This record gives sequence, structure tokens and C-alpha cells, in this order.
Amino acid sequence: ASELSLRPQRLKEYIGQEEAKEMLEVYIKAALKRNEALDHCLFYGPPGLGKTTLAQIVANELGVNMKVISGPSVERSGDLAAVLSTLEEGDVLFIDEIHRLPRYVEEVLYSAMEDYVLDIMVGKDSSTRSIRVDLPPFTLIGATTRFGDLSAPLRDRFGVVLRLNYYTVPELRTIIERTAQVFDCKIDKEASLELARRSRGTPRIANRLFRRVRDFADVRNDGIISLDICKEALKKLGIDSNGLDYTDFRYLRAIVETFQGGPVGVESLAATISEEVSTIEDVYEPYLLQEGYIKRSNRGRIATQKAYETLGIKYFKGIFAWY
Ligand code: ADE
Repeated sequence: ASELSLRPQRLKEYIGQEEAKEMLEVYIKAALKRNEALDHCLFYGPPGLGKTTLAQIVANELGVNMKVISGPSVERSGDLAAVLSTLEEGDVLFIDEIHRLPRYVEEVLYSAMEDYVLDIMVGKDSSTRSIRVDLPPFTLIGATTRFGDLSAPLRDRFGVVLRLNYYTVPELRTIIERTAQVFDCKIDKEASLELARRSRGTPRIANRLFRRVRDFADVRNDGIISLDICKEALKKLGIDSNGLDYTDFRYLRAIVETFQGGPVGVESLAATISEEVSTIEDVYEPYLLQEGYIKRSNRGRIATQKAYETLGIKYFKGIFAWY
């Protein structure tokens, strides 16, 4: 068990995302059987659900190396060419935040994905020409929080497209208990359930909360994570009984108090709570939408009755019709 690492290394150890796992298992086995590179894969969904972990697992299962780059860090097509030229046959190239690749870099990817060739421009002015470099067959795995922001030509070049969903409470609980094992830490059954309930369906949050709660347990409870210690730590961290944090509350309060419950556009909300639009759209809203705290209309975001209840504010919508 000391070999155990926080990130699972094999498909069998990976908890949850059953649909994605089942598909990947088939595609990996088929590729191995035919001794071919796995088709290019796109993983999309909210942050923290395990896209990078899953990509590493795919590479492990295929028995190949994985090279990692991130969309915003690739400024010139030469940066991409530099990484592509290090690939060996069957390797995985993982591009995180692939929706943030500059368009002219993205265009270099098309022929690399389709025909395993790289067309690069060399020289300048009148001596500019393109040279073609052959690449070994490889697998591109792209990860994105924004499927809709990918250009159609890029999207169409992925043979496998998998959406990762929020985890269930039982799945998160299993992940938390696994994490406790990795850290050789005792956690009571009621405590792992409580943590799971407050992790916003997200393993990254579950593991982050786990570390903080463990700190309290180590200092105040001989290292044992009990339900009491768990509740005390989460209260100090400003996490409410449903896992909403300080920013979720500021967001909901802005809609309800500043904009009378909405509808309000995301730009106005972002300005009100001093967060970036992309952070609000990618990190905060997906969970609030799924859990029914807000609704989206073509005129903007609207707070639901659940949001009012969470804020402890009386829900007036509809009552006004009485007057
Ligand atoms: N740690 C983080 N995510 C995990 C997952 N999906 N399965 C197992 N351990 C994890």
C-alpha cells in the first residue's frame, strides 16, 4: 500500500466516470491488439475531475510515454514542433486547455493529427518556404473545460470525445478513503461521508479539503479525522453544509442583492465580485447550475429559490404578483 500514489496509475484504480472508463478500456485494448496508436482523444468537463490523471492512465495502459504541454504556454508554432519532434511511436501528447492554443499553432496540429506530418515555415521574406517533417504515429489527448470554444476543424479531428461529469457522493467518499490510505491516516466513516458531501462533486476539491482537515486532526485530535474535527475545520475554511465556499456566496449574493435576483449578465456579475468571467463560467457556474442554485436564460443568470434559501433570504419572486 505504500506504493499507492494519490493519482491512480491504472484504469482499474480509477474511481468513477464509469462510462468514460468503459469506452477507453475498449479503445485501448483494440489499439494494443492491432499494434496501432490509439486514436486522438478529447476529454472535456469542469476543472478538477481528472482529465490529466485519465490521460496519464491511458499512456500507462498503452505502455508509452506522455509529453505534456498547456495551450496558453505555446506561443509559436515552433514551440509545438519542438515537442512533436520528441515523440516516439505510439506516445501520448497531452495538451491541457487545448481551447487556448493560438489559432496559427492549432493549424500546425491539423496535419500532425491527420497524416502525422509537420509542415513548418522556415526562412523569411522571399526565401520563406515550408518544410515537411514526418512524425511517428502518436495519440493526441486534448483536455478542455470549454468544448464549445474549440474550432470545428480541431473538434472534428478527435476520434474519441469523452465528457467527464461531476462525481457522486459515494464515489467521492471512496476517493477520500483511498486518499486517507495513501496518507496512512485514520478517518471515521461519518467524516468521509461529510467531506464527500461538501466536495462539489470534484476529486481535486475532496483531496484539498482532506489535507486541510487532516492538519486539524493532526494538531487537535491525535491525527484521527472524526466527524467533529471535520465539521470544525470546514467551518473555519468557510465551506457550508453543501460545499459552497466564500466565492459561491459572493456570487449568489451579487445576483440576489445587487441585481434583485437577476436576470443579470456574467460581465456585470464578474465586475461586481472582482472575478474573471472565465473563472466564473468555468469554475463556479457549472456546479451552481447543476445543483439548481441558478438558472440561465437568454437575458442572463437568475437566482432560484434554492439560492435564496441558502442565503437565508426570503424568496419574493411571485409574491410581488399579489400586490
Ligand atoms: N484521485 C483523484 N481522482 C481520483 C479518481 N477518479 N479515482 C481514484 N483516485 C482519485
